[in-house]
Amino acid sequence: MALLIDGKEISKQIKDELKQKAADLKSKGVEVTLAVIQVGDDPASSVYVRNKKKGCEYIGIGSLSYELSGETTQEELLALIGELNRRKDVNGILVQLPLPGHIDEDTVIRAIDPAKDVDGFHPQSVGALCIGQPGFVSCTPAGIIQLLKRSGIEIEGKECVILGRSNIVGKPMSLLMLRENATVTIAHSRTKNLREVTGRADILIAAVGKPKMITRDYVKEGAVVIDVGINRDENNKLCGDVDFEDVEPVCSAITPVPGGVGPMTIAMLLNNCIESAGF
Ligand code: GUN
Repeated sequence: MALLIDGKEISKQIKDELKQKAADLKSKGVEVTLAVIQVGDDPASSVYVRNKKKGCEYIGIGSLSYELSGETTQEELLALIGELNRRKDVNGILVQLPLPGHIDEDTVIRAIDPAKDVDGFHPQSVGALCIGQPGFVSCTPAGIIQLLKRSGIEIEGKECVILGRSNIVGKPMSLLMLRENATVTIAHSRTKNLREVTGRADILIAAVGKPKMITRDYVKEGAVVIDVGINRDENNKLCGDVDFEDVEPVCSAITPVPGGVGPMTIAMLLNNCIESAGF
């Protein structure tokens, strides 16, 4: 039977370590505060934002919440970010994506001071990751590295295939796996002979957003399978990009959905918040 990689448990370990670090900082007179901005009332975003604020509470750091109307202009949003950039008592700034169509996401991400870019989305953060310099790392890929390491799964020298090339997951994931000395392939919607490519993977990371697309014919026997997808199946039940029931018997380790990668994103965001305070 495959090892079930328990993201809930591993994220709790990390949050408990961060709780201690937050207390140590507090004893030295350093308060940490994350500002969270949501524009509009997308229900999924509201859930994510609520969980991020709950995470701050759990580890004992402050959070400021800005719930702006969907009619907020880009100028108004940029003015708020400018103010938060200048505030000495704010360490991290997070703008929940997606933004309404009339606001340009790239412009907004670029407006965040890279020293407070706890999402790791600013081009300076991405560039630093690319050339191996210090900077904030996108939370979901950073969380996957922690899942692998804390489950005792070796990365160095392994064939890693990442399915998906988004700026938030696929691309930074490939850079992080490279940093860990894996041999990295990024596959995507135009990849030819996809099963042949994914079938080479010792570690397969699926981030395509297609419910249960990855069946056992994509997976090498004994591979480690990481499922980043959060989708709804035909019965409106939460499911990943991986057909868990089909793949679990042939792999050596697998993340469930929910309870795999998902909880790690918030743990790594909180980690970045602590780092932003100079830990
Ligand atoms: N929307 C979906 N995932 C994320 C994330 O990690 N950060 C932000 N800011 N928005 C998101």
